[in-house]
Amino acid sequence: MYFETILSPALLPQYNLSRKTVIVIDILRATSSICVGFNSGVSLFHPVANPEDALVLEQVGFITAAERNGQKLQGFTLGNSPFDYLNTDLNQKKVAITTTNGTRCLHLSREADEIIIGSFLNLNAVAKYCKEKNRDVIAFCAGWKDKFNLEDTLFAGALAQLLSKDFKIECDSTLAAMDLFDKAKSDLSGYIKKASHAQRFERLGIEKDIDFCMQLSIYDFVPKMVGENLVL
Ligand code: MLT
Repeated sequence: MYFETILSPALLPQYNLSRKTVIVIDILRATSSICVGFNSGVSLFHPVANPEDALVLEQVGFITAAERNGQKLQGFTLGNSPFDYLNTDLNQKKVAITTTNGTRCLHLSREADEIIIGSFLNLNAVAKYCKEKNRDVIAFCAGWKDKFNLEDTLFAGALAQLLSKDFKIECDSTLAAMDLFDKAKSDLSGYIKKASHAQRFERLGIEKDIDFCMQLSIYDFVPKMVGENLVL
């Protein structure tokens, strides 16, 4: 079994997703917030490409969640902060969600054999899942508008290190991600504070989201796409 890493959606055409498990990674904050939502009892997330699509689903009982450029869109119930999903009355609710990068990657991954959600919050659960599935794995970094970002690549490196005894790693982007994680692992939150998205959060006054999203393995589940929905 092989472990590969896609550092940006712009590189997706260079990879073959079929018959592989694709782990969509958007640490700040889509995949982190989705895990928080499931821990708060959300029954499913329905990723949509446009905010208008979420509003249509609101008519049939969905809760709406929309973020663009790091900010919650007006007129939507939730944004993309993990705190939007923490201890909120979301039990058994269905959430129609659209974010700048993360939900787009879920749609881009449809050729995959299966699509799962990776975040630092469920890191060990994702590693265990990949070992048990015994299938080639692609870590798919959402990045920022097709640009490379540090936080998603750090996760890919952390996961690859956990799987290095079970998977062949001949992919330079994975090897680079592992080295990056080695450099940052002693103080992940501190390291990430220099990332462009973290600086965007500071300008928006939401840097507390960074520390929350950088917690390790606080959830022991792996959300996955079934049809058009993310479920546990
Ligand atoms: C994304 O989906 O692009 C990110 O999570 C954006 C954000 O939440 O700031």
